[in-house]
Amino acid sequence: METDARLTTADLQDADKGLDLALRPKRLQEFIGQARVKDNLQIFLEAAKGRGEPCEHVLLYGPPGLGKTTLAHVIGNEMEANLKVTSGPALERVGDLAAILTNLEEGDVLFIDEIHRLNHSIEEILYPAMEDYALDIVIGKGPTARTLRLDLKRFTIIGATTRLSLLSAPLRDRFGVTYHLDFYQPDEMVQIIKRSAHLLNIFMEQAALEMIGQRSRRTPRIGNRLLKRVRDYAQVKAQGRLDQSVIERALDALEIDPRGLDETDRRVMRAIIEKFQGGPVGLTTLAAATAEEIATLEEVIEPFLLQEGFLARTARGRVATESAYHHLGFTPPQQQRILGGAFS
Ligand SMILES: Nc1ncnc2c1ncn2[C@@H]1O[C@H](COP(=O)(O)OP(=O)(O)OP(=O)(O)O)[C@@H](O)[C@H]1O
Ligand SMILES: [Mg+2]
Repeated sequence: METDARLTTADLQDADKGLDLALRPKRLQEFIGQARVKDNLQIFLEAAKGRGEPCEHVLLYGPPGLGKTTLAHVIGNEMEANLKVTSGPALERVGDLAAILTNLEEGDVLFIDEIHRLNHSIEEILYPAMEDYALDIVIGKGPTARTLRLDLKRFTIIGATTRLSLLSAPLRDRFGVTYHLDFYQPDEMVQIIKRSAHLLNIFMEQAALEMIGQRSRRTPRIGNRLLKRVRDYAQVKAQGRLDQSVIERALDALEIDPRGLDETDRRVMRAIIEKFQGGPVGLTTLAAATAEEIATLEEVIEPFLLQEGFLARTARGRVATESAYHHLGFTPPQQQRILGGAFS
């Protein structure tokens, strides 16, 4: 299945780009949820400002759509800094990064998205740049080659990644602080959707907001996307009425169930239960059985299923939990044994 077509995929789709910009909180105050990260960040930023220094390098990690890019912009705004944006895959040659770094002014913030996808030679340029604000460039070749050290202005790098484990240890160590963004609480999701609805001039009752919140995979990007889809549905099918029954029909039409699982989530869970007797099953085998890519399973599908307690990770692979059996209408194995025993 083409995962980009999933409505609940947390990955950024083209249609989201305008929406993302319009709905993105600009200051820390507007940023909802992630209380621990926010508290720490507030102190961290205030301290740097108080000293009149650029802040230390910041690493943000967590599943897609939870606010890493948003937070990078928030940090830039709070520091009243210029924010430049690039990404791991966009930096192809050493010269690309060198050009960006030498153009940074004192206090500028450089946001490197998907920082786990930097290639190795570029990463090596980054080490002294981050540590000593210096750029080492090699001039010439062979025995006459020599290294020239250029001083850089003091800047801040914000790196974002969905895959912390793919980041090399030396790179990780060069970040002063690392913040982990986690799935949002249900009441935070409702607040986020309420804020977005307000910005988009959509009016709906609390119960309706809660229903969308419940089905958003605890992910702001998905909440915003569902809000738009629900509005479309209401406009076309219900003269724009956004009451609970219309919203329920809209969400059902989108095949998102009350726990926020979509067809792909359910297909993966059903495969574990039906093809592998509930597991344990290894990620590679599961990927082959469901025709999903390993990376998609690991970064997008699995974190939410783990978080919701439908899936458990063991040393021998992934296991469907009892609540997964119940949710999908299967009898859990333990109960099967008891029932089997009763009839034998
Ligand atoms: N805490 C929040 N409060 C309100 N809206 C939020 C919050 N976090 C994220 N959003 C909304 O969710 C959308 C997606 O967030 P963002 O692009 O920052 O995610 P991301 O973690 O960078 O995702 P990716 O890994 O795909 O790059 C943004 O447009 C923003 O409007
Ligand atoms: Mg992002």
